[in-house]
Amino acid sequence: SQTSSSSPPSSSLPLVSHFIGKKDNIVKAGRMTTMVNGCRDILVLYHQGQLHAMDMRCYHSGGALQYGDIEEFNGRLCIVCPWHKYKITLAEGEGLYQAVDDPTAKPLRKHWRSKGVKQRIHKVTEVNGNVYVTLNDSNEAIESDVYQTERYRTGLLKA
Ligand code: FES
Repeated sequence: SQTSSSSPPSSSLPLVSHFIGKKDNIVKAGRMTTMVNGCRDILVLYHQGQLHAMDMRCYHSGGALQYGDIEEFNGRLCIVCPWHKYKITLAEGEGLYQAVDDPTAKPLRKHWRSKGVKQRIHKVTEVNGNVYVTLNDSNEAIESDVYQTERYRTGLLKA
């Protein structure tokens, strides 16, 4: 894929890969945050041999996902936001919640359900030990987009 770090500013996200670091360093650290293309704060995770990238701030209220634990729910790997424990699937950015089918049943039976895609997931590729992120340029609004502004970047706003 094409590599560029000097794309012109654009309202839509460009379809180019941005070099973000050496795989060795990311594997060692387990996770890293970086701004891609001067416009998007991204969290890159290495977990169980896989690289993942997503918007850095949680779709719920802008929580710092880089400090979240990774856990499995119903067989799906999720990052658990440290602020209010929302669960976000690493692969799709879906918000998971626990639903109760029958509130009168005893014991209560809970199931993990999806609220749909809430966190914007980006594509990560590795070529010769170099890691690149391609921003997800889907025009469809995703809730985590709200926290990609200067206001949140300053870190002054907390839940
Ligand atoms: Fe992430 Fe509330 S900000 S769960």
